[in-house]
Amino acid sequence: MSSVPRILPSRDPLAGSIFAPMGVQDLSEVQVIEDSVYPHPWTRGNFLDSLYSGYENWTLRDASGKLIGYFLLMLALDEGHLLNITVRGDLHGQGIGRGLLDNVVQLARSKDMRSILLEVRPSNARALAAYLRYGFEQIGVRKAYYPAASGQREDAIVMSLRL
Ligand SMILES: CC(C)(COP(=O)(O)OP(=O)(O)OC[C@H]1O[C@@H](n2cnc3c(N)ncnc32)[C@H](O)[C@@H]1OP(=O)(O)O)[C@@H](O)C(=O)NCCC(=O)NCCS
Repeated sequence: MSSVPRILPSRDPLAGSIFAPMGVQDLSEVQVIEDSVYPHPWTRGNFLDSLYSGYENWTLRDASGKLIGYFLLMLALDEGHLLNITVRGDLHGQGIGRGLLDNVVQLARSKDMRSILLEVRPSNARALAAYLRYGFEQIGVRKAYYPAASGQREDAIVMSLRL
């Protein structure tokens, strides 16, 4: 029997997946994911506003056509503002978020953006870790930015990535 170690090929978590512009027809599926992963999800109205504003709104579907994630990016002068980035809950921690961020960055660069800005809840440890790991830096705090449980508010950590 050979003792030569087998080198496993690294698997691209986005292999076979397809990005497409988000449209109204996607919103019922988007809403199912949104409602399942956020304590305070965006409403259909929020998504419609983003679609009608002409932001960069993108879905990611696997090879079988199932929605696995999405992002919404507003372009303002030379800064992209990442309004929403979401991976389906059962697929968290598999590198898909990183793949979405790669595509956000690629898109922003192609539109001559110089940086990407986002807000994140201090309580959202996974997202915070993902952004830090990706190279985002904290640049500020917006006080009482988000709705929270029992009518309370939660601060937002503001982060930026220089492109
Ligand atoms: C935040 C989110 C987009 C990240 O996507 P993901 O596919 O789960 O993340 P990835 O598997 O690509 O991991 C990216 C990094 O996140 C961090 N991370 C992933 N899983 C983690 C976990 N269980 N605990 C802590 N950090 C974790 C790691 O630093 C990881 O980098 P590494 O694999 O190089 O170490 C996704 O978890 C999500 O949709 N969450 C719910 C919605 C949300 O909170 N969106 C962001 C709002 S600001």
